[in-house]
Amino acid sequence: MTLEKDFPALTDLRDRARRRLPRFVWEYLDSGTGAETAAPRSAAALARVEMTPRALCGVQEADLSVQLLGRRYPLPFGFAPVGMSGLIWPDAEGILARLAAREGIPFGLSTVAAQSPEDVAPHIGDQGWFQLYAPGEPEIRTDMLNRARDAGFHTLILTADVPKASRRERLTRAGVTNPMRMSPRILAQVAVSPAWAMGMARQGMPSLRFLEKYGDTKTARSGTGHIGYQLRTAPDWAYLEAVKREWDGPVVVKGVLSADDARRIAGIADAVWVSNHGGRQFDAAPPPVTVLPAIRDAVGPQYPLIADGAVQSATDILRLLSRGADFVMLGRAVHWGLGAFGARGAAHVVDILRAGLIADMAQLGIADLGALRHAAG
Ligand SMILES: Cc1cc2nc3c(=O)[nH]c(=O)nc-3n(C[C@H](O)[C@H](O)[C@H](O)COP(=O)(O)O)c2cc1C
Repeated sequence: MTLEKDFPALTDLRDRARRRLPRFVWEYLDSGTGAETAAPRSAAALARVEMTPRALCGVQEADLSVQLLGRRYPLPFGFAPVGMSGLIWPDAEGILARLAAREGIPFGLSTVAAQSPEDVAPHIGDQGWFQLYAPGEPEIRTDMLNRARDAGFHTLILTADVPKASRRERLTRAGVTNPMRMSPRILAQVAVSPAWAMGMARQGMPSLRFLEKYGDTKTARSGTGHIGYQLRTAPDWAYLEAVKREWDGPVVVKGVLSADDARRIAGIADAVWVSNHGGRQFDAAPPPVTVLPAIRDAVGPQYPLIADGAVQSATDILRLLSRGADFVMLGRAVHWGLGAFGARGAAHVVDILRAGLIADMAQLGIADLGALRHAAG
């Protein structure tokens, strides 16, 4: 079996991951909120974006690199923060950090990851972005920012679309609590997923490593009652300004869908990340690709815009770039690779996307991604 022959698309990896992971883990990765219409609408909106191929462009070497926040990245995508990645696959954070370092692309480590910035630091090279869920206590915030900076993380993501925990009905139905409690029902799901179970047995059950310092990470009051939620506040404009003052590198605000918000953020922070959190926070949220053109108009042609949501192919990446994004982040997709084949699968996701970008750019007759905004049609 070769990955390229038998798993040529990200969706092939998704299907294998779904079969291979225990049900509760798959539900954790895949679920949204409410009736779960937001993520499918994001996918449908992406599929509707057309780009017109150009004829007779001759042979061109595709340059996949992009300039973002003072750095040149060799690929136009990176890894979005995913809380408890390490539950989806053992050592997911370590694997993704090493992959990001090898490829020279950013990896956003979540506040509620299963490894801390200190754990990941030896693997991540110069590719560390740290994602902050706004802690209410200023002293805790300062400590968190210092820890991330001291561990070598240079770009800060302030997530703005979780002012309160959302309802994750599918998870509740699947019997999931956070932190995990190993109920008989969950154990029965683990028993039929030997590859995952063996990996976890070697590594130990993942926990909220970064937050251990700030309180008890083991007891759950409810599905979303763990310390990760207890520490959080809903950030406001003054909070963003305080974070911007405290952090001495670029600050990205993640989870923006309104052009008015984006315009105001652009006056304070260094980049806006257009996202509906993969449809996990608000079921009526619009697809990022739909709101991108208005946000691009609002912030002007030069201001850095990152986007994510329902990316399943290189073509989807180009669709987001053609609508005004400078850079794209992958949430679930890279975890499909991890769930399907561990580290090899995650690397395969990058290879699939690179090959797809090169093929599609030839169709569009463009040698670099800067030319893309003019190809939308
Ligand atoms: C399982 C899971 C956990 C997530 N955890 C976080 C998180 O801790 N912090 C955050 O800012 N976003 C989090 N997100 C949102 C992602 O960063 C990203 O916005 C989203 O997954 C993009 O959509 P996609 O999964 O369709 O690519 C999470 C997403 C998933 C699927």
